[in-house]
Amino acid sequence: MGIGRQLVGFMPRRNIFLPTICIVLLIAAWTFRAPSSSVDRWLDTSAIRGTTSATPPLTPPFPHGPPSQSSQSSQSSHDNDVDLSAPDAPFVGWPLRRVCDEASWVHGLVYICDNNSGGIGNIRNYIQTCIRYGIEAGATGLVLPRIRERNETDLSDLFADYLPFNYMFDEKHFRNAFAANCPQITLYDDIKDIPGVGGDPYIEYVTPKKLGDRDGCDWKDQNRHTDRFNDQFHKWLNDPKRGRPSPSANHPRLIRFEWGVLWDWLIYRDGPEFANTFGGILKFNDQLLRLGKTALKNMHAYALANGVENGKFLGVHLRTESDALGFWPTYNTQTEAYLKQATKRGFEVAYIATGDPLEAQNFAGAAIEMARMRVVTKTDLLKGKDLEELESLSWDQQGLVDFIVLLGSDFFVGAMPSSFSVYMAMKRHLKTGGLYTRPYKVGTEGDGLSYLVGNYKKYWEGWLFMWDGMWP
Ligand SMILES: *[C@@H]1O[C@H](CO)[C@@H](O)[C@H](O)[C@H]1NC(C)=O
Ligand SMILES: *[C@@H]1O[C@H](CO)[C@@H](O)[C@H](O)[C@H]1NC(C)=O
Repeated sequence: MGIGRQLVGFMPRRNIFLPTICIVLLIAAWTFRAPSSSVDRWLDTSAIRGTTSATPPLTPPFPHGPPSQSSQSSQSSHDNDVDLSAPDAPFVGWPLRRVCDEASWVHGLVYICDNNSGGIGNIRNYIQTCIRYGIEAGATGLVLPRIRERNETDLSDLFADYLPFNYMFDEKHFRNAFAANCPQITLYDDIKDIPGVGGDPYIEYVTPKKLGDRDGCDWKDQNRHTDRFNDQFHKWLNDPKRGRPSPSANHPRLIRFEWGVLWDWLIYRDGPEFANTFGGILKFNDQLLRLGKTALKNMHAYALANGVENGKFLGVHLRTESDALGFWPTYNTQTEAYLKQATKRGFEVAYIATGDPLEAQNFAGAAIEMARMRVVTKTDLLKGKDLEELESLSWDQQGLVDFIVLLGSDFFVGAMPSSFSVYMAMKRHLKTGGLYTRPYKVGTEGDGLSYLVGNYKKYWEGWLFMWDGMWP
């Protein structure tokens, strides 16, 4: 039975005529009233995806989004076929500019986002979450983020030393992104460079969630009150009990988060355009990009040399290193799931990323035996000077070379709740729909690009909330 007939069935027959006429009139009025240009804008999928040169590149169908004079790329015509899943995609700046234009800026308020630790997925989110809150608070100063070094003998010790931003990221790119789209913020190299701080800077610690009026909710729940953060934060900042003057050029107030503020900001609050571009402020540095691209090129060559059509390969993230937590999928669970995908999708070669060479060997053995699939790692693919350079890098930096190769794979398999794997699947998903893409369907093979094995039953215990708080 059709839906129409079901609905009709609920109505006394003589009453059908009037409601029908009303609906028809409403639809007609709405259609003719809407300016056709804006309707076209919404319906023109090529404009949305930015794949035609007839429309300005990546022009948002929103009044507040000025067309992208794409901060970094003067080659705006190239933006037409921008692929945001590429590791070196140009930064699309207008969504950031829109957020900055809407902020209420405060002289003398400076955010320090420098206790960023763990692997790439966590480090990015620490930095981005802190900056996003900083913009909302109207911080006109930001100290260039730094990265906490991981102890290479004890991988779970994440606080060995402070390393500069360019340990992983492209500093010039970051500065340009802010200069072009958020000029209200001044970037300081160091705390001592902030005007008026004096010799012994007083830094105030805050946990944004605590300002979130979170009565009755789970402590793990994100901060659902970010729209009110500005109000709440300034109430806290200017509370007479704190005994500090309001921030001003002469009396700066320095803010640092208590450690552990991540996956806290629901990315969809700022719209899909911002959600899918903000992460672009953190681009890998040139050395990592070069090594990663070389390894990717060599991977395709390896696949072709093995008779694989188009050089297709499976990307595997085996997350079983010593710092993996007890409740994560085991080696066997991961291997079984990955080889099942390999067989189902007919892959003959694979690239594996793992910080544990012994496990890589084990996996390669199982792959040949069970899926007739050859497996290589970055050290198999890089030669001579490139290999020397790779080996001079830290464990986490080498992981970024892996990241670039895996981004370029034809299908990716990883594990929940590794933030490296989650970031990978989200970044790869950006290939599917340009700036207006829908979110990745968590726990499925939905976009045909990635699958993460894991436990998807519990949103909090299973760390599924990461997907809602990570900017790819
Ligand atoms: C790294 O960890 C080892 C083993 O726990 C320890 O002996 C060493 O002091 C640590 N190094 C640093 C720089 O913290
Ligand atoms: C950074 O985070 C660690 C881990 O909680 C903490 O012990 C340390 O005090 C933090 N450092 C700063 C400067 O906030």
